[in-house]
Amino acid sequence: MYKKILYPTDFSEVAEMVLKHVKAFKNLGGEEVILLHIVDENDIKKKDIFSLLLGVAGLNKSIEEFENELKKKLSEKAKDKMKKIKKELEDVGFKVKDIVTVGSPHEKIVEIAEEENVDVIIIGSHGKTNLKDILLGSVTENVIKKSDKPVLIVRRE
Ligand SMILES: Nc1ncnc2c1ncn2[C@@H]1O[C@H](COP(=O)(O)OP(=O)(O)OP(=O)(O)O)[C@@H](O)[C@H]1O
Ligand SMILES: [Mg+2]
Repeated sequence: MYKKILYPTDFSEVAEMVLKHVKAFKNLGGEEVILLHIVDENDIKKKDIFSLLLGVAGLNKSIEEFENELKKKLSEKAKDKMKKIKKELEDVGFKVKDIVTVGSPHEKIVEIAEEENVDVIIIGSHGKTNLKDILLGSVTENVIKKSDKPVLIVRRE
């Protein structure tokens, strides 16, 4: 029933913990994992402001050029980080498709879950921010609000 799994990761400690639960699905009929990272568009915008303040804008680059370079760099970095996770999943017998895209994390997760027609989304309760008194991170909260797919939320320790 849960053949195709969507595993979104922001490479945080909590998202790393999710991996063992994804692997456990191999013995529950799991066949394929869509490994997904979204380069957060908002982070790029924030970096823009910083770079402007730091005078990077004075380097004769347009904001657009700067943004595109940053998107490319962050996407390459993410692809690289995914290699190890992809290999681990392949080693337990999954077929793996790795996707890196730019946008709003929760919107892309919901969109790709539909497009790829996954059977389940396995996600961390928290991510990089990991605030102590928050029950769920905003990405996970929005995914459970907006996706029709079953969602397995792995709690932080
Ligand atoms: N950019 C991303 N790409 C892929 N998956 C993500 C991304 N951001 C978050 N996730 C997934 O969502 C889970 C929860 O992260 P979320 O961002 O909601 O929590 P947070 O970082 O603690 O809080 P917030 O982002 O609201 O400040 C992560 O463990 C990860 O599985
Ligand atoms: Mg986050």
